[in-house]
Amino acid sequence: MFCRNIYVENFRNIASADVEFCEGVNVLIGDNAQGKTNLVEAIYTTALGKSFRQGSDKDIIKFGEEYCFVKNKYFDGLRDSEISMRIFSDRRPKRVEQNNMRISRTSEMVGSFKIVIFCPEHLSLIKEGPALRRGFLDVAISQIRPLYLKALQRYGNILKQRNALIKTGEEDRATFDATIDLFSEQLAHEAAIITNYRVNYIKDLKKHVGTCFCDMMGDSEIPTLEYLSSSKLSEDECFDISACEKAYRELYSSRHDREIGAGATLWGIHKDDIEIYLNRNRARFFASQGQQRSLSLALKLAEGEIIKSECGDYPVFLFDDVLSELDAGRRAYLLSSIKDKQVILTCCEKNDIAADKLIHVKGGVFS
Ligand SMILES: Nc1ncnc2c1ncn2[C@@H]1O[C@H](COP(=O)(O)OP(=O)(O)OP(=O)(O)O)[C@@H](O)[C@H]1O
Ligand SMILES: [Mg+2]
Repeated sequence: MFCRNIYVENFRNIASADVEFCEGVNVLIGDNAQGKTNLVEAIYTTALGKSFRQGSDKDIIKFGEEYCFVKNKYFDGLRDSEISMRIFSDRRPKRVEQNNMRISRTSEMVGSFKIVIFCPEHLSLIKEGPALRRGFLDVAISQIRPLYLKALQRYGNILKQRNALIKTGEEDRATFDATIDLFSEQLAHEAAIITNYRVNYIKDLKKHVGTCFCDMMGDSEIPTLEYLSSSKLSEDECFDISACEKAYRELYSSRHDREIGAGATLWGIHKDDIEIYLNRNRARFFASQGQQRSLSLALKLAEGEIIKSECGDYPVFLFDDVLSELDAGRRAYLLSSIKDKQVILTCCEKNDIAADKLIHVKGGVFS
């Protein structure tokens, strides 16, 4: 899979740009605040339907403009395709098209154009809080399992309703008691489905992370991963969807007072985590800074390997500002491992990267 061309209008500081990419290593080079990450973000939105940055869709519209537009022309491994998205500053919903056909739900485009993104915040994947690791899983699985994203959206909606009911529990216990089971059952059902996708994904991830990490660091230390489910089931038990659903139903039905006290749903896939070990020690406590970075990089490369083994083709790798954060050994490994893939990376200064295409970025203009 590779991106041939990105066309954007009014995307953050980019008034208009039409950028061609080659199949190998594309380097966007420029000073700070010129628009490098903005272009990476534009590519990302055509894969995931939304930005990787915090904020609303409308934030990506150039200040003072009424819309923004991005079109990605890419080769999907079999044929040429294109995806475009137009976001309006008024109340109109965003308009997504694939090969000139309107797509009504953004979730339906996810998985068509596949990416792996590695940006500075991912360097903390190991030691940061669980939300970052859940986000990693959600993006990775959504791109290869369309039903996963649908289940996540259903889960999010039910969770919102269940939390709203919990908040009224103290004032109106009768309504709470009469209604809560309905939401609990639906939530347990979706939680079990999502958990099952996640533990299956982690099974694959373990294999690939081990290989990438050992290639990078030598065989001295072995990484492994474990899914921590708030259902209290072990990772192995989570492969059984009905056991997982049952565990969640029991949690949801037996601890109403605690949830009302907390004002929110206390168990579910929104609380889960991945524990990452190095030689059986928890990496976030025991691994060195360098090892944690290498593990993060191994996770990202593994994400790409899984896409390749599932879909037959590598995704496009987007590396935003991370090369300067890696030491020479890690950088050399990264650069050798991306040889046969399309990479779009950003940096501020000239460095040791052998670029197949160098694109200069200044004031939102690409040359
Ligand atoms: N909605 C917007 N409209 C106009 N400009 C914006 C908008 N959102 C962000 N910007 C501006 O875009 C500029 C470029 O941002 P970008 O993150 O792409 O920089 P960069 O080249 O990646 O820099 P760095 O090397 O520091 O990461 C910033 O100055 C930012 O203020
Ligand atoms: Mg940047």
